Amino acid sequence: MKSDNKQLEIKTTNQKLQITENENKEFAKLVVVKPVGYPFEFNLMDGEIEITNTKLFEEYARDQWLGLVVREKSHLFDQKIIPDYGFEIVTAKPNNSIITENTKIKIITDEIDKKNDNKIKSNVHLSDIVGQENAKQKIKVIKKYLEDPERFGPWAPKNILFYGLPGTGKTMLVKALANELEVPLYLVKATSLIGEHVGDSSSKIQDLFKKASENAPSIIFIDEIDAIALHRSFQSLRGDVSEIVNSLLTEMDGINENESVITIGATNNPSSLDLAVKSRFEEEIEFKLPNENERLTIMENNLKSMPLDYDLDLEKLVKLTKGLSGRDIKEKILKTSLHNAISNDCDIITMQNVEYALNNMKIKDSDIKGMFE
Ligand SMILES: Nc1ncnc2c1ncn2[C@@H]1O[C@H](COP(=O)(O)OP(=O)(O)OP(=O)(O)O)[C@@H](O)[C@H]1O
Ligand SMILES: [Mg+2]
Repeated sequence: MKSDNKQLEIKTTNQKLQITENENKEFAKLVVVKPVGYPFEFNLMDGEIEITNTKLFEEYARDQWLGLVVREKSHLFDQKIIPDYGFEIVTAKPNNSIITENTKIKIITDEIDKKNDNKIKSNVHLSDIVGQENAKQKIKVIKKYLEDPERFGPWAPKNILFYGLPGTGKTMLVKALANELEVPLYLVKATSLIGEHVGDSSSKIQDLFKKASENAPSIIFIDEIDAIALHRSFQSLRGDVSEIVNSLLTEMDGINENESVITIGATNNPSSLDLAVKSRFEEEIEFKLPNENERLTIMENNLKSMPLDYDLDLEKLVKLTKGLSGRDIKEKILKTSLHNAISNDCDIITMQNVEYALNNMKIKDSDIKGMFE
C-alpha cells in the first residue's frame, strides 16, 4: 500500500516534518519503540518513565506521530506530556514507512535492562556449591579466559549448556559466578524473553545480546532455555517459538570471536532443545544429584543457619535422602522439619520432625520403615 501523505494530517509541531520525502513510501504496519530518555540530562530528571497502560500509550503515541516516517534505530520524540523524551525505533514493519491511523505501536518496557544494569547481587559463593566438579572446572577456564582473553585467540569458551535435574545447583552456580567475576552478568529467565506480540521476542533477544556485546567481556545466562529454544518437533505447539529460535541463532552467531561474550544456557531437559541451538553449545555439562558425602555436606552447611537447635542422626538422614536434590534436602526436608518443630512448640528439631517432612514428601513407607525403630 502506498501513501498519499498529502491527505494525512500532521499534528506534531516541532517534529521534523518529513512529509516532503514521503511520497511513494509504504504505510507502517507495526512499530516497536523503546523509551531511551532525554537527549541531554540535567538535575531532577531521572530519565525513567513507567508505562502502565500500553493500549492507552499506543493511542497517545499514534495520535502525535501520525504521518511520520519510521526508520529502525532512529528516534521519535514525545511532544506532549514530557516534551523531547526520546524513543528509539527498535522495529518498523516495513522499515522506512509512515505511521498511519492503523499502525500498531508497541512499547518495550525494558525489564531486561533494568534487571541487569546492576550486577546481580547475591551472597552465594562458588565454595557454597557442593559437588558439580565438572561445572566448577569449566568456571575455572572461563575465569582464566576473562583474565587474559588474548591468550585464547579463536579457542575461547563461548557457549556452554548446563543441564540436569531440578534443584541441583545450576542457577546457584551462575549466581555465585556473578560474585566471583568482575564482568557484568546478564541473567535472564527464558520466559521473560517471550514477548506479547510478534516481533517483541526478537527485539528483546537482540537487545540482550547488544547490551552484552557493548559491555564485553560479559556473560549472558539464559535460565530454563528450553522454554524458548524448543526442539522443532514441539515448535508447532507454540507458534512464536520459531521466531525466537531464529533470533537466538542469529544473535549467537553474530557474536564474533573477539567480543568476549560467553553465553550459558540451563535446562532440565536438553533433549527438548532445538538441535541448531543445541549444536552451538561447545560443551554440555551435567549437574548430578548429590552422592552420600555431598548430601551430608549440604545438610551440614544448611544446618549452620538453623534458628533452632537440632538433634539429628545425620548418617541416617543421608541414607533417607537418597535420590533427593540439594533443593529437596534444603526446602522439603530441612525447612519442613524446622517448621514442623516450630508448629509443635519444640525448641529442638528431632528425627520426628524429619519423619514428618519425609512423609510429607510421600516417600514410600517401605523406604522409611525401620529407620525410626
Ligand atoms: N550442589 C549444591 N550445593 C549446595 N546447595 C545446593 C546444590 N544444589 C542445590 N542446592 C540448593 O538448592 C537450591 C536450588 O538450587 P538451584 O536453583 O541452583 O537449582 P537448579 O539446578 O537451577 O534447578 P532448576 O533446574 O529447577 O532451575 C539452592 O539455592 C541451594 O540451596
Ligand atoms: Mg534454575
